[in-house]
Amino acid sequence: MSLNIQIVDNFFSKKEYDILVNNLNKIAYTPATNSQGLYGMNHDIEETKENKWMFDKIKNIFSPGFPEMKELEMVYASFQMRDNKNNISPHKDEGINGHYTCKYNCLIYLKGEELTYNGTGFYHDTNLNTYVGFVNNRAMFFNGRDVYHTCLQGLGDSSARYTLGVFYGKKS
Ligand SMILES: [Fe+2]
Repeated sequence: MSLNIQIVDNFFSKKEYDILVNNLNKIAYTPATNSQGLYGMNHDIEETKENKWMFDKIKNIFSPGFPEMKELEMVYASFQMRDNKNNISPHKDEGINGHYTCKYNCLIYLKGEELTYNGTGFYHDTNLNTYVGFVNNRAMFFNGRDVYHTCLQGLGDSSARYTLGVFYGKKS
């Protein structure tokens, strides 16, 4: 299936962005692994009264371009740290924690060097074709279940990068 993606720069207001970035070094991260081994560190988050504004904002901005969102709910969210200098890890986000299906991902670049290879790459057929470089406060929304994608850090200059990832699908 083909890539369906929307990118919004300066996604959060300055005040919202500062709240999120100041929080990144106050939270604890746990190792994130898949069948290929360790791929980063995550801090899982649930929606609460305090952070509802963040989830509401994502939904309000991206739902109009993705009508299927009406039938989906947020199934997983985390702050993520990635520093993968040695390899790339093409994958689709089909299910999270084995509990539910996932259809769309919102990935928001929060803190890192603004380098192309700190970003995310998308495959067309079997070719790594489309790069979305790292820019602080850049948000993207895409059909992560349908299209292979990878962190690009293993392919060029990169730094540790912090992101917010929110997944939408159906809980089963
Ligand atoms: Fe992914």
